[in-house]
Amino acid sequence: MTGESVVNIHTIAIAGGTGKEGKGLAYRWAKAGYRVIIGSRQLEKAMSAANDLNQILPDEVRVEGMVNQDAAREADVVVLTVPFSAHIPTLEGLKGELREKILVDVTVPLVPPKVTKVQMPPAGSAALEAKQVLGEDARIVSAFQNISYEHLLNDEAITCDVLVTGTDKEARSIVLKLTKDAGMTGWDAGPIENSVVLEGMTSILIGINKQFGSHDAGIQITGVPRD
Ligand SMILES: NC(=O)c1ccc[n+]([C@@H]2O[C@H](COP(=O)([O-])OP(=O)(O)OC[C@H]3O[C@@H](n4cnc5c(N)ncnc54)[C@H](OP(=O)(O)O)[C@@H]3O)[C@@H](O)[C@H]2O)c1
Repeated sequence: MTGESVVNIHTIAIAGGTGKEGKGLAYRWAKAGYRVIIGSRQLEKAMSAANDLNQILPDEVRVEGMVNQDAAREADVVVLTVPFSAHIPTLEGLKGELREKILVDVTVPLVPPKVTKVQMPPAGSAALEAKQVLGEDARIVSAFQNISYEHLLNDEAITCDVLVTGTDKEARSIVLKLTKDAGMTGWDAGPIENSVVLEGMTSILIGINKQFGSHDAGIQITGVPRD
């Protein structure tokens, strides 16, 4: 929770939006009134995922499907939801389209099979790896790593919080607004270097899920006023 951005975001592209996390975020943002484009490596897969979502969205709300590059080109904000093994190649493929745009990186650097153990890449975190690929001037925000997809593809209230780190305060404010519009409480968690904490937290939450047979463990900030 912090001051809200004054920048108007209209179109959100989700690269790798055919997967579990991306589809869930797409559903929430489409319902909130944003133009949402599902991105994929394959146009047919993107259109099929968009069609799946359109079946469950209200009649007046429609998402679109495009290949990742076309989706990114159309968007004000590009969200990346791909497995860590696809992180660098996908970013390299989108680098041209991401200039002047905000990238919201949701990628968690999980290294199967030991996904309950925190294993950061040489760059320090997935977000810092994105910075290495996109360059020092890139605007990167890291968020939603601790929100299980199980929470997203429905209309229920989400009690887990979202910690938002990023390269600049305005970009973080924009993503805090997107977080709120998706029905979640977000907190400005500071510079992009802090993303290592949220990315690492996901392995801990997966471990807790394993212990309790649950699927959607999350975190909540306490001790400060909430909206
Ligand atoms: N699932 C969750 O609950 C959750 C929660 C928080 C964070 N995350 C993180 O969010 C990211 C996405 O998770 P997910 O569960 O949505 O993943 P996913 O369903 O396994 O994959 C998402 C999409 O990534 C694309 N993809 C897969 N392999 C690829 C490759 N080799 N190259 C390029 N694209 C590839 C695919 O899209 P196309 O084939 O259509 O291109 C796929 O539909 C991961 O980093 C994950 O750790 C997930």
